[in-house]
Amino acid sequence: MTQPELKEIRACVFDAYGTLFDVSSVARGAQAALGPQWQALSDLWRSKQLQYTWLRGLGGRHADFWQVTGEALDFAMATLNIRDTALRERLMQLYLEISAYPEVPETLQRLQHSGMKLAILSNGTPAMLSAAVDNAGLGSCFDAVLSVEEVGVFKPHPSVYQLAVDRLSLAAGDICFMSSNGWDAFSAKAFGFHVLWCNRFGQPPENIPALPDAEITDLSVLPEIVIHPA
Ligand code: LAC
Repeated sequence: MTQPELKEIRACVFDAYGTLFDVSSVARGAQAALGPQWQALSDLWRSKQLQYTWLRGLGGRHADFWQVTGEALDFAMATLNIRDTALRERLMQLYLEISAYPEVPETLQRLQHSGMKLAILSNGTPAMLSAAVDNAGLGSCFDAVLSVEEVGVFKPHPSVYQLAVDRLSLAAGDICFMSSNGWDAFSAKAFGFHVLWCNRFGQPPENIPALPDAEITDLSVLPEIVIHPA
């Protein structure tokens, strides 16, 4: 596959969950307690969590991502007949200790050394994001860690993507956005960012506006795509 080249990118902005951080690492951390159901719990928890963000957005009833994540976990546990309050608390705690994907630290360092501005733009609350970033040892990598809590609505509302434009003081066209979540990648492209869809899970393209600039399978190729010595 020929590598795309994106010229004159001044900031790389990353989705958090699924893109920098491995959502499945959370339930995997309680695999001994969950047994073989851990993967089903993980998948259901994640899909319900995202559905709740969209439902709250459409209904105009925002609650922060920590609450939504807990409510989605309650649904997933009820579906699988898991009644264990201590395990629920442990899974929520593990969300704060979520693992970064293996290529993330080195990729961010290479980008940072090139002078690229780096930011996270996520549904996560400031507390969730700061715990995840610190736990993964990425605290010194980012110029900004931006939470949707600043605008009070979840992705893919355009005001979320606008937050990165405003806070980085850059035009949308100066920014390259990365998300593994197809719906987020397509929506960020419709907003006006350059977008690389980090299609970690080999999913088919979404049928919503608009098609990302390119697909990558993990973040390790990012420096070659966006860093071009003058
Ligand atoms: C986020 C969700 C979409 O980090 O994964 O914003």
